[in-house]
Formats: sequence, structure tokens, C-alpha cells
Amino acid sequence: MDMVHGGRVYEYAERVGRTVDRIMDFSANINPLGPPVSVMRAIERGLGDIRHYPDSRHDGIKRVLQSRLGVNGDQILCTNGAEEALELLFRTIRPPRTVVLTPAFMEYATIASRYGSQVCAIPLSIDVDVRLPMDKLDGILRAGDVLVLNNPHNPTGVSWPRHQWRKYVEKWSAQGSYVICDESFIDFLPQPLAYSALPLVLAGEHVIIVRSATKMFAIPGLRFGFAIGAPLLFAEISSNRDPWSVNHLAQVAAMAAYQDVEFELATARWLEQEQDYIRSVWGQQEDFHLFPFSANFFLVRASSAALAQRVEKELRKEGVFVRNCEQFSGLGADYLRVAVRHHWENIRLWTMVRDLAIASR
Ligand SMILES: Cc1ncc(COP(=O)(O)O)c(C=O)c1O
Repeated sequence: MDMVHGGRVYEYAERVGRTVDRIMDFSANINPLGPPVSVMRAIERGLGDIRHYPDSRHDGIKRVLQSRLGVNGDQILCTNGAEEALELLFRTIRPPRTVVLTPAFMEYATIASRYGSQVCAIPLSIDVDVRLPMDKLDGILRAGDVLVLNNPHNPTGVSWPRHQWRKYVEKWSAQGSYVICDESFIDFLPQPLAYSALPLVLAGEHVIIVRSATKMFAIPGLRFGFAIGAPLLFAEISSNRDPWSVNHLAQVAAMAAYQDVEFELATARWLEQEQDYIRSVWGQQEDFHLFPFSANFFLVRASSAALAQRVEKELRKEGVFVRNCEQFSGLGADYLRVAVRHHWENIRLWTMVRDLAIASR
């Protein structure tokens, strides 16, 4: 069975004989408060305009992002999800080698290989917490290579403040290596600016940020993402892509989403409370090690692979799905990745897991 992605709700529903709305999906890291009402209204208002081709300049959404991020329109590349941004970047840069820090979102290696790049996996240092192996990369990266730095990091949920990696990224980008900073989950952090590579993008040609609206605003089925980087690179990409891959509804939805301050505040309140709850239960249980996390998902290591597998299997019977990490290089069958959801869902999950762990002792 293909386990490369979480969030395969249609497949889950079919497998357990339920409708999609009776699946509790902790395997995809989607904001349960969304989509925001503002986004749903914008989609309704935009429906009549689907008779026209979408704006291939992405003018409206670019203006919203420009004022939000303090960048120019030509430094923004709008895409059909962060996935398309990654795809277009690799297709254009064509790096001889791509360095990924493992465990990693699997699409990096898949896309890089598709464009003939040799993938070099450098393990993160994982014991009680998760640390960047920056010193190890020094002799490895050459001009033209890509390093992917995913922050907040999937699948661990950890985030590294910029002061921990800034000087390395500045050095490597100055020597001609590209650093793609995948910040798809950064809107979930209370102080995104302290973690973002934004100041580095503005200073140089070789640092590129990738962001996603699909997680924060809960529109993975609609899709919107973007990249921030050098105008020359983006001009080259734009001249060689499907001009209509970002559909009209995705553009109007993203415009509403990125202006909805209330929704972002509500998300921040919900997440802080639920993170505290998760630390107070998962973090206190002897059968699991909870890794420090600041995003909207967390990684746990069960005391044995058998326990993690049993938990996953028994939950599945109840229509509850978590992400097993067997296929992540550097993790294994004893690790589970779990999304933070509504309080009642987090309680239900925890109660089931705790009872299973006790019964397995
Ligand atoms: C780290 C990371 N980057 C990018 C993506 C792709 O996001 P999108 O839905 O915007 O294509 C994902 C999806 O899970 C992800 O986890």
C-alpha cells in the first residue's frame, strides 16, 4: 500500500466502509478551524467568474501578499499549492545534487529525482529533541546544488529560529548553492518572523521561500501556494509553465485568507491551548516520548514498534487515522505523527491511545 502521504481521506473512507465526514483524520496537518468563513464567502462570490480564464498574472493575490510580506510583486510566484512551487523550482534550477535533511517530507526527494538531481540525505540529529546538522553540510554543498530547509519541520513539528541557521545559509547561498526554505507551516507559529528566511531572500539571489495556504486555511482540496525569491528566476519559471494552474477560486480564496486577521488570531488561541493539552497528556505518558513541537502536529516515539502499530490499527477500526512513520528515513515503525485537531477530537484520540497503551503493558 502506498503510504507516502497522509490525508488520503477518500481512500481511508473506502477502506473502513465509512463516509468521509465520519473519518477523524490526524494524518494530515490541516487547521480544523478552517476554511475561514471569509474564504467560503469569497469562493461563493467568485463562482460566477469561473466562466473566464483565471488571471495568469495573479495580480490581486500578489498585491495582498506584497503588503503582508513587504516584498515586490516580481519576487512572488503563485502556484497550485506549495507542491507546484517545489516542482517548478526543481524543474528550472535542475540542481546536480539536492541535500535533504531526513526525516523529510518525501516529495523533496521525489521531485528532485524526477529532474535528474542526485539526492543526498543528511540525518537530523534526533534523540530527546531534533537538531540541525549544519556543521556536517559544510563540505557537502557545492555551487548549483539545492539544500531544502523545512521550517517548521515535517514530520517532527520542530521549528528552528533563524539565529540557529542564518550564518550557514548566508555562507552557502553566497557560494552559489540554492537554499529552498519550505515554510509551509510557518503561519501556525506565534512569531513567524523570528523563524522565516524572509530577510535572507531579500538580501540574495539564492535563497527561496516556499509557502502553502492549504494547511493554515484548510484548503488542500482547492490548493494555493507561493514562493518568494529572485525576480529573474521567477521570470524564467513563468515563461515556461501552465499560465492557468492557479484557478480563479484559489486566487480569490487566498486573497480572503491572507487578509483574515481574526482567523489567524483564533487559530493562534486554539493552537496554544491544544499544544498545552497535548504536552500535559502525551508528554506525561511513559509509553510515548513526545518530541518538542511548535507547529500544528507532533511526533511521538512509542516504547515499541508493536505498540505503535497496534495503536494505528485499532484507531483505524474506529475511523481514526494517524500517520505511521515507517517510511520516513531516520524514523521507523515506532514513530507516529499526529495532527492537532479540535479539543474534543484530541481528547478522544488521547483516551483511546492511553487505554490501548495500558492494555498492551
Ligand atoms: C513540508 C510540506 N511542504 C509542502 C507541502 C505541500 O503543500 P501543498 O498542499 O500546499 O501543496 C506539504 C504537504 O503536506 C508539506 O508537508
